[in-house]
Amino acid sequence: MSPPRTAAIIVAAGKGERAGGDVPKQFAPLAGRPLLAHSYAALSTHPAIGDVVIVIGPGQEDALRNAVGDARHVIGGATRRDSVTAGLNAVTDAERVLIHDAARPFLTAAVIERLLAALDAAPGAVPVLPVADTIARADAVLGDTIDRSNVVRVQTPQAFHLDAIRAAHAAWPDGQEATDDAQVLRAHGEQVVTVEGDAMLEKVTHPGDFAAAEARHAAAMISRSASGYDVHRLEAGEELWLGGVLIPHDKGLSGHSDADVALHAITDALLGTIAAGDIGSHFPPSDPQWRGAASDQFLAHAASLVAGRGGIVDFVDLTIICEAPKIGPHRESIRMRIADILRLDASQVSVKATTTERLGFTGRGEGIAAQAVATVRVPRV
Ligand code: CTP
Ligand code: MG
Repeated sequence: MSPPRTAAIIVAAGKGERAGGDVPKQFAPLAGRPLLAHSYAALSTHPAIGDVVIVIGPGQEDALRNAVGDARHVIGGATRRDSVTAGLNAVTDAERVLIHDAARPFLTAAVIERLLAALDAAPGAVPVLPVADTIARADAVLGDTIDRSNVVRVQTPQAFHLDAIRAAHAAWPDGQEATDDAQVLRAHGEQVVTVEGDAMLEKVTHPGDFAAAEARHAAAMISRSASGYDVHRLEAGEELWLGGVLIPHDKGLSGHSDADVALHAITDALLGTIAAGDIGSHFPPSDPQWRGAASDQFLAHAASLVAGRGGIVDFVDLTIICEAPKIGPHRESIRMRIADILRLDASQVSVKATTTERLGFTGRGEGIAAQAVATVRVPRV
């Protein structure tokens, strides 16, 4: 039997009023990228999840594209529940759905896996954390203490059988607000089981939560650097693609793909940071689908693998080694193109070039070499 198909919905249509700031909190920068980009990377690269729908507010399309590139999205509503409903309406072809708040950026594969495993036994599952503080009723004066031993804090993502959560939302009284979806399913008489939550999943709600999230993230990450190197032969009658830019020259690089040595070197450097093999193991030259392929997709794939491990690319340094053409006039366009593919700021990309004083194969103009170093932050293991 094939495993159940699973979709994910990220609700990101809120105004983030309590957090304040120039842009709604889901698009505000956190740990090197827009807040929403963290959970999107975790969900969109998880092998069990086939479809991710992001629910945004009206007019937030550009902010979404800046945050995550072209991603499937729908427009949400005035309340969180309206936004969830819009997301549920957009999900097709799935038996299970994870519903997640963009406001909880640091989602790990382990939490996703605990939730999906729990769905084998119940129509709903939520991640929870124990409560450490004393919990009491209160208004101006303190009321009774509540036994905290059977009280939990409920997080997202929350996982559901799609039919069950759809039916539950359809039956929920209009005009009544729900802060999460598990309570909607329970109100429909269905069981929701708990799995262990994650302190990293804490919600960003108030302005101070950004600094706290930043600190949690920093404490959970280590820096890693790795290098990449590539060579291709220069031949007449080929196009010259370097760093994702087509450069006018009397010769071009030959190889199975577009032979862009610069992008290949960076791709290998990124793969190196997560010990994920090399470009040839992901895109074998023996596979005809990569004949003439544009190398930006190799680089984007390597970046998505890094993101899928919860990694952040901090810096890329590239050196192109050739006698001709002169790289200087193209340096800025190469830099911008690489930054664009990796969704980085241009200040995070360095492009250098050198000749080899007419020595060796590069000196004789027989080929071009490139080397790159990538620096990333990845979660500590
Ligand atoms: N959300 C949504 N649509 C709404 C309201 C909220 O998609 N109409 C989303 C938010 O983007 C967030 C999640 O639901 O990812 C949890 O909501 P909350 O933390 O309350 O975010 P905001 O509503 O944006 O913040 P605030 O209440 O402070 O305005
Ligand atoms: Mg809200």
